Amino acid sequence: MTKLLVTYYSSYGHMYQMAKAAADAAAENDDYEVKLRKIPELESARKAMSAQDAYVQAQEAQADVEETTLDDLKWADGIVWGIPTRFGNMPAQIKQFLDTAGGLWAEGALEGKATGIMSSTNTLHGGQESTILTSLIPLLHFGMIFVGSPYSENPELNKYKTQGGTPYGPSTVAGDGSKMPTDGDLKMAGRLAKRVAKVASGIKEVY
Ligand SMILES: Cc1cc2nc3c(=O)[nH]c(=O)nc-3n(C[C@H](O)[C@H](O)[C@H](O)COP(=O)(O)O)c2cc1C
Repeated sequence: MTKLLVTYYSSYGHMYQMAKAAADAAAENDDYEVKLRKIPELESARKAMSAQDAYVQAQEAQADVEETTLDDLKWADGIVWGIPTRFGNMPAQIKQFLDTAGGLWAEGALEGKATGIMSSTNTLHGGQESTILTSLIPLLHFGMIFVGSPYSENPELNKYKTQGGTPYGPSTVAGDGSKMPTDGDLKMAGRLAKRVAKVASGIKEVY
């Protein structure tokens, strides 16, 4: 069995939807064991956002998803990350979590794992690509092997209308927050998860 972890942070539910689609698509293959996990919220962020109905509702919707642990990272052969944009970069929640993984870095415990990144922004040019590409930096420090979302597998990338999707990884445009991932966004999320699991299976043979 190839073990796939789909881990995400989501304030308003967009990355949660994408992560669920990714996990569900990979789980269709009986050769893959899939875990869906969320990155823990920061108390400062909870305090800042808990007056917003959209935040409260989205947190309730994901209340049953277990929090990601360092053991989950170690367990996985492949990891898909759901990383929404904060000022064109990863949220503090993800950075804080990664900064607790120094021990895994020191052990080389994440080396050779396949990985892919999904993102979301409010606006089309608000930083999906920059978030995915800058989030890759710590993953490369961990020795992970990056898997993108090529045009050949994702015909949606050639559609010139406002929706997510990049060759670096799937994404979605949240608009004012009320816009949820499109069918195409969710399909691209699923394809990335399958691709990461497939690459992870191959790496297991040779690494
Ligand atoms: C502090 C903060 C910074 C943000 N920065 C950006 C940004 O640079 N560009 C953008 O388009 N959206 C930005 N957003 C909007 C988020 O990216 C958007 O709410 C998120 O992608 C939705 O995903 P989620 O529902 O999974 O949290 C920001 C939101 C917050 C709270």
